[in-house]
Amino acid sequence: MTDRKQLIREALDCLVNSYAPYSGYNVAAAVLCSSGKIYTGVNVENASYPAGICAERNAISHAVACGEKEIEAIAIVGGANYSASDYCPPCGICRQVMREFCDPKKLAVIFARSETDYKEMTLEQLLPESFGPEMLGK
Ligand code: THU
Repeated sequence: MTDRKQLIREALDCLVNSYAPYSGYNVAAAVLCSSGKIYTGVNVENASYPAGICAERNAISHAVACGEKEIEAIAIVGGANYSASDYCPPCGICRQVMREFCDPKKLAVIFARSETDYKEMTLEQLLPESFGPEMLGK
C-alpha cells in the first residue's frame, strides 16, 4: 500500500485550498483507492451555512467522479487558520459516506498532524454496527 507518509503529504499539500471563511477551521483529506490512485478534497463552506461540505466527503466524491468505487485509506488533516494542529477525526456523516465504499474492517482512517505524528483507526472502530450497501443487497 502507498505509505502513510505520502497520503498524509497529499492532504497537507491540499490544506491551503480549504475554503472556510466562516468557521476558520480548515480541513483537507486524501483518499487512497484500490487502483492505487490518490484523490484529495477540502472543506468548502458557504454563506448559507448548511450548504457547506466536509473535506472527507469532497475527497471521496472526487474519487467516485474519477471512476473509483473502493477506498483503502483516508488521511485527514486540519485545524484553525490552515494549521494541521489538531488530530481531526471525521464527523458522523463522513463516517457513513466512507462506509459506502470500503470494507470497514480494512479502511484505515488516519488523523494526522504531520507525516510522522498521526493516529490510525479502522472505520469499524469509528463506526461500529454500521449500516451499509449489503443491507440493501448491494
Ligand atoms: N469539517 C470537515 O471538513 N471534516 C470533518 O470531519 C469535521 C468538520 C469542516 C466542516 C466545517 O467547514 C469546519 O470543519 C468546521 O466544522
